[in-house]
Amino acid sequence: MTQSLTIARPDDWHLHLRDGAMMQAVLPETARHFARGIIMPNLVPPVVTGDQAAAYRERILAALPEGMQFDPLMVLYLTENTDPEDVAAAHASGLVKAVKLYPAGATTNSASGVQNFDNVRPVLEKMAEIGLPLCVHGEVTDAEIDIFDREAVFIDRVLDPIRQATPGLKVVMEHITTSNGVDYVKANDKDLGATITTHHLIINRNHILVGGIKPHYYCLPVAKREEHRLALRAAATSGDARYFLGTDSAPHTDPLKENSCGCAGCFTATNTMSLLAHVFEEENALQNLEGFASKNGPAFYGLPVNSDTLTLTKSSTATQFPEKIESQDGPVTVFDPGFPVFWTAT
Ligand code: NCD
Ligand code: ZN
Repeated sequence: MTQSLTIARPDDWHLHLRDGAMMQAVLPETARHFARGIIMPNLVPPVVTGDQAAAYRERILAALPEGMQFDPLMVLYLTENTDPEDVAAAHASGLVKAVKLYPAGATTNSASGVQNFDNVRPVLEKMAEIGLPLCVHGEVTDAEIDIFDREAVFIDRVLDPIRQATPGLKVVMEHITTSNGVDYVKANDKDLGATITTHHLIINRNHILVGGIKPHYYCLPVAKREEHRLALRAAATSGDARYFLGTDSAPHTDPLKENSCGCAGCFTATNTMSLLAHVFEEENALQNLEGFASKNGPAFYGLPVNSDTLTLTKSSTATQFPEKIESQDGPVTVFDPGFPVFWTAT
């Protein structure tokens, strides 16, 4: 029996498109299913100013294949030198939809991130005033904090103090990976939302480490214990509008992943919607998939829901996804959930 589900076209509220040849290769994978994406600014050098964001947006639109539609929602990379007035102008023009906080050294290309959070207070205050959301990579970077505890410690030491000190600031806790993240959102108000990735609904830390190290399952924040994966699943599929999809699809070429110091990032743009249909069906929550992937994000950002649709169809034969996407920089391995998936998205 064929089962199908039509939902408003989804958006990706946390996406790495990169630049140049890599962007050329991965952009169609996202644009095929998604109408809009919050575009991560961690290029080298990062997208810091309104002018840089405008130029990056033009490069994205120029890389979009003929006949495809995609609206890149631009994000500024917060540094200790960010000018509140530049941020305000980029927001007022409609170009910029969020500012991204990377603690310095937390993840790929985060060297220009924030070391002393007091130095970004004027920018955060301006953002609260104008209603511009802050997207947060929520991990502390202190060497003495265990990598599996970095999210929980960040909430207590950094995130909560920032929110207390900046009433009215809209914050997205990005790619939450713990029940601590789930609970922190649950305990707070509508100014706080969280994105959840597809892969964190599917893998726990055993998937990375048991039976040999699996570099394509390594991302940041790193997948945690099974109890955390289950908390993320419960949150994502609950229908609570404060949780929404941010795939964090983060392409790196195979030589950079399969390496003695492998890069962090899972590339999920290609099969995310099929995998989500699988996960939501497993949780008996297909009725909440549209909220998670298509409605809750626009509501948080104050944007309209997309008027066109995406149809998910379940058949009795497993869907074949490409193992790799080819780019002129090299191949990029598509996230392999490790089980057959019977849903396709069109
Ligand atoms: C991202 C990347 O590769 O840019 N990597 C990742 O593991 N998610 C950076 C990030 O979002 O942390
Ligand atoms: Zn990311």
